[in-house]
Amino acid sequence: MPRLPKQNYHDFERIIELDFLRATEAAALNSLKWLGRGDKEAADAAASDAIRGMFDLMNICGEVVIGEGIKDNAPGIFKGEQLGTWLPGAPQFDIAVDPIDGTTNISKGAPNSISCIAAASPEQGVKVALRDVPSFYMRKLSYGPRVIQYMQRRGDKLALEAPIAETLAIVARALDKRVQDLAVMMLDRPRHKEIVEEIRAAGASLRMIGDGDIAAAIAPAIVESGVDLYMGIGGAPEAVLAAAALKCLGGEMQCKMWPRDEKERAALIAEGSEKDLEKIYWADDLANGENILFCATGISDSALLRGVRSQGATATTHSVLMRAKSRTVRFIRTTHDLSQKTIRLRSIHREARL
Ligand code: FBP
Repeated sequence: MPRLPKQNYHDFERIIELDFLRATEAAALNSLKWLGRGDKEAADAAASDAIRGMFDLMNICGEVVIGEGIKDNAPGIFKGEQLGTWLPGAPQFDIAVDPIDGTTNISKGAPNSISCIAAASPEQGVKVALRDVPSFYMRKLSYGPRVIQYMQRRGDKLALEAPIAETLAIVARALDKRVQDLAVMMLDRPRHKEIVEEIRAAGASLRMIGDGDIAAAIAPAIVESGVDLYMGIGGAPEAVLAAAALKCLGGEMQCKMWPRDEKERAALIAEGSEKDLEKIYWADDLANGENILFCATGISDSALLRGVRSQGATATTHSVLMRAKSRTVRFIRTTHDLSQKTIRLRSIHREARL
């Protein structure tokens, strides 16, 4: 009898990657009942419960190195938490997770919320794969592969702190568009007043979003998103998740810590981060190495993914699953038969119907 070759585990991500996606699918499905019900904590709790439940079935040693934003004491998944079975010998993963990016959107029934996970397995030469940046916010600029290719050909360079008109002119040339045809996505926040004025003065058009800047920052790397550039100030953990995805898509991101006030600046200095306050973090500084996978499932529609479509007896989810090593990008449309479907919930330690 021929023997099966010994299974090659050097690329374990390949074997387990779909289970990560199952976790974000389960989060999206389990939080959907909270869409438009004014209770963002309940939505976050439902998504987190489903993610923990799915990880309970995964034979890995997962450690959360970046949880969701600490900004509103959400009932989410936080740094230091262990996910997976943690059986001896199980493969290790560092995990960055946002059970819902855009919890306020869900509570309002508004667009632009996703569930997402980035995971990194150990890699030679990589000390910190997913960087936990100490500031609450970062200033961000992200763009897609076409812009990068153009800059490589032409020697042009985008810089986070360059005048906005200059940035827009380079992106327009790279995409073979006029500046007035560029779409720039940004969180709708008073802190962006000056940036907004500069963008409008340069003639580009804005796509303002209420919340959820992970999908927004990834969007410029996806041609069909209709978004050419993402800029503005948003959460630091969200920057790392977006950076992981951008690496898989061949896009790029530049970020810089953006202390909210003097108190935060002083705290960052006291913690020893003074030298990093002026540092520009590129995607590779936030998500380092090649052993990185990223997956996301849309809850409500965003520039990245369609949200869950519920059709009575079935629900359809739209997800993306990708890896930095291979740059394979899978858009996955899944139909769930709700008369059969169960998801594992941590809170009850068993499968539950939706
Ligand atoms: P939550 O879903 O955790 O509430 O985060 C939503 C979000 O819009 C992020 O996408 C973004 O990075 C951050 O909040 C912006 O923070 P703020 O709302 O304080 O401007």
